[in-house]
Amino acid sequence: MTTTTTATAETVLDARGVTMRFGGLTAVKNVDLTVRSGEIVGLIGPNGAGKTTFFNCLTGLYIPTEGEVRYKGTVLPPKSYKVTAAGIARTFQNIRLFNNMTVLENVLVGRHTRTKEGLWSALLRLPSFGRAEQASRERAMELLEFIGLDHKAEHLARNLPYGEQRKLEIARALASDPGLILLDEPTAGMNPQETRTTEELIFAIRDKGIAVLVIEHDMRFIFNLCDRVACLVQGEKLIEGTATEVQSDERVVAAYLGEPFEGAPGAEEVAEVEAAEASQTAEATETPETPEAAEAAEATETAEAPETAQVTETTEAHSTTSTDGEAK
Ligand SMILES: Nc1ncnc2c1ncn2[C@@H]1O[C@H](COP(=O)(O)OP(=O)(O)OP(=O)(O)O)[C@@H](O)[C@H]1O
Ligand SMILES: [Mg+2]
Repeated sequence: MTTTTTATAETVLDARGVTMRFGGLTAVKNVDLTVRSGEIVGLIGPNGAGKTTFFNCLTGLYIPTEGEVRYKGTVLPPKSYKVTAAGIARTFQNIRLFNNMTVLENVLVGRHTRTKEGLWSALLRLPSFGRAEQASRERAMELLEFIGLDHKAEHLARNLPYGEQRKLEIARALASDPGLILLDEPTAGMNPQETRTTEELIFAIRDKGIAVLVIEHDMRFIFNLCDRVACLVQGEKLIEGTATEVQSDERVVAAYLGEPFEGAPGAEEVAEVEAAEASQTAEATETPETPEAAEAAEATETAEAPETAQVTETTEAHSTTSTDGEAK
């Protein structure tokens, strides 16, 4: 006779009616979301839909204006370090590593919530600290091996290629021994090969018994990976279902403004192109009066082009950083 033990998987994350307002702007509106043990859940939605803000509400960076977040049945404390200690770890949309520390040291920083040894024993180098440090290093090396970066343990984080920095963030998050990991755009800026290995890495994390909630714009990645997918649009949950259900929902397609799903350029890119086109049109309307002036204008345009692109990028990077909230 067979017994079914997995019929009711434990609810790891239970967010109910989460609302986050910034002045007059409601970035997240009454969102319910659960993640059960053994699950990989995806969170999608166009730029500015409120995905990162929702993550910030789950991890104590923001205190939701309304609603409640429970982790394994207990309401979470409104402080990010306490949320980490409770068992939720995260990575950031804008990579946050200690650039001048080594790869190994970055993972050790993520470990500190799990070591009993306090600051004084570290400073006074008490024997108990030495033992704890050794154990932490062994665990950190295991994690580096797990993500495939053990051979770079002594490299400075800033010297890692972008894709490896994203993986290092995952290792740092795993160092706190979470029961749930939140990943905010883990494959942003990765090439297809790196994206594939990240996909395998996330399956391996799930297989270790850690539930996963992941934000991504790469739909092929999301629909391949996730047991369930929720789509946020203008702060509200539009739909939640299996990959097949969400993929075929016309409202989701419409929310993405009819952009094709697979490898679609993000709205950020579209905005960049539109801005470039708009500035070109503006320049074209200032018609020079003589052929010499036209030539001179053309030369200026070519020289100025890269600078214009750079300004757009900087502004964008800045605005995304501010939406991430500040670690406290
Ligand atoms: N601290 C803040 N103060 C004011 N407005 C904010 C703040 N954080 C986020 N917002 C606003 O909330 C909305 C949702 O932003 P959020 O960063 O959560 O979107 P997102 O879905 O993560 O977008 P993306 O896909 O571009 O990362 C945006 O309009 C943003 O400007
Ligand atoms: Mg975001």
